[in-house]
Amino acid sequence: MAIDTTETPGPLYPEYLPHYDPLESVVTVGRFEHDDPGHRADPAFPNLLKNATNVLEMSPHCGTELQGVQISDLSKAGLDELALMVAQRGCLVLRDQTFTDLGFERQREIASHFGPLHKHGWMPHPKQGPEEFVIVYDSKDDLRIRKSWARKSPIQFHVDQSPEAQPPGATFFCMLESPPGAGGDTIISSMTRAFSRLSPSFRKRLEGLTAVHTTANPIAREIRDNGEKAVIRRPITRSIHPVVTVHPVTGEKALFVNSSYTQSIVGWDEEESDYLLKFLFDHINRGHDFTCRVRYEPGTVVIWDQRVTQHSQTLDYPAGGRRHAFRLTPLANAPVASLVEEDDGECRKDEGRMMLNLC
Ligand SMILES: [Fe+2]
Repeated sequence: MAIDTTETPGPLYPEYLPHYDPLESVVTVGRFEHDDPGHRADPAFPNLLKNATNVLEMSPHCGTELQGVQISDLSKAGLDELALMVAQRGCLVLRDQTFTDLGFERQREIASHFGPLHKHGWMPHPKQGPEEFVIVYDSKDDLRIRKSWARKSPIQFHVDQSPEAQPPGATFFCMLESPPGAGGDTIISSMTRAFSRLSPSFRKRLEGLTAVHTTANPIAREIRDNGEKAVIRRPITRSIHPVVTVHPVTGEKALFVNSSYTQSIVGWDEEESDYLLKFLFDHINRGHDFTCRVRYEPGTVVIWDQRVTQHSQTLDYPAGGRRHAFRLTPLANAPVASLVEEDDGECRKDEGRMMLNLC
């Protein structure tokens, strides 16, 4: 690995530097009743868009950039509307945010509007900061992220922490410092479109299936890479979730398997399960037509709804460049299974196939 050793000034946000403590443990949030703020939202978004100067769709199926909106100025009604819009669009991008300078307590308070905040099992938090803050720090003075991806493709679409019994919903990713020049983007992929683009009869086969999600592999990698310095704050988390889920606010169906955490299809033989999951992961990896790509500047905040999207890092900038961000991860509802529909005429409704008379 060639590392850029050019002298650069110290980090802009030293209080957000990562802290690794192999002896630390965290108490999980546990079961809770989730009341999604999106249910309370006015669908005309009068509070969210009050000061908006531009609303820019980043791609047809995923991503909207809101210009002129400051998260820190939003009322509770504005945050409710933000929850609805991110559920509909998968991700929202907001630039030049004062949110990054509000301090730990206020940042935690705003993100908690969307649900109780997850505490990560192995990613670092700030030394003096709350354990709910996940720090992403890649720099010549900390190559831990580089090391963990040294022998595999950095492109891995995933849902953050899908093995939780109640996985995350609207999630905040806040860029404090990005590498000089291009690089370090995040690719967000719409799982509602990933599902709807499959053929109607294949979609029906997926509905009703469940899959095992586990943190076993990432924890094994943390131990492999860091030995005695490995941070394992929680035991392995494991849940069974529907393969096709329904968003509790929009009612939209989404594919809910990901290559980081989904291990097997329940009740299927290993070869059958591997075959289906490989197809679905390949389908997501190839689905450039339902992604958007976010380029960062310091002060960019991206919010994605983990129930309808997956995302991947790119890690394409030279090793040694400093990329420093934090994530706040509100937990949401236990995944809602999509009902297997009877003869609903979906095949005939599928316009692309109808035009080609392939249905
Ligand atoms: Fe992630």
